[in-house]
Amino acid sequence: MTDTSTNITEATLEEMRELASRYPQARSALLPMLHLVQSVDGRVSPRGIEACAEVLGITAAQVSGVATFYTMYKRRPAGEHHIGVCTTALCAVMGGDALMDHVSDQLGVQPGETTADGKFSLEAVECNAACDFAPVMMVNWEFMDNMDPGKADQLLDDLRCGREVQATRGATITSWKEAERVLAGFPDGRADEGPTAAGASLAGLTIATERGWRAPDAPAPVKEEEQ
Ligand code: FES
Repeated sequence: MTDTSTNITEATLEEMRELASRYPQARSALLPMLHLVQSVDGRVSPRGIEACAEVLGITAAQVSGVATFYTMYKRRPAGEHHIGVCTTALCAVMGGDALMDHVSDQLGVQPGETTADGKFSLEAVECNAACDFAPVMMVNWEFMDNMDPGKADQLLDDLRCGREVQATRGATITSWKEAERVLAGFPDGRADEGPTAAGASLAGLTIATERGWRAPDAPAPVKEEEQ
């Protein structure tokens, strides 16, 4: 049976209209609006789809077409914390597959499922462009680098007990709903918390700086009459 429950209010609709006003073409706001729906309803709810359609003047089918295309949009409720384990090739061979099996066992759910208490949802995620920190996990879209089963156990325990967790390259972990609100375009002031680049990612830059290397100057633009 379809879950039609919703927490969307007139205030949510007003925020949707505000998002739509940020773009020359209102429809361009659909992706952030869907994140806003998830921040309120914990998923892309039927009412959320209708609300997006109403605000943008498009059909519910058009909204659904977008919401079902991207994996970041959930049709079933995500957990308070959404756990992603990268199982793409490099992370997989560096321990990601074993890490996924371990986390799945610990939570008692398979990828794509949410724990019965609603605390955690689990997803196998594709490459996060963080291969130099493999294997990586994501918590509410924040990076947890160089993970192993022991670190994963500690992470899950800290989140379960409400202890503060700092992403290895990013902000303090909040909840998935709060993270979704930021993705919708309503900053929480944490964007500059924590390092955004570190370790192997910066090795080339560090060597270049030490040796005084710099990129060659761009060639001067060719004037039209010279072409
Ligand atoms: S393969 Fe996991 S971050 Fe690239």
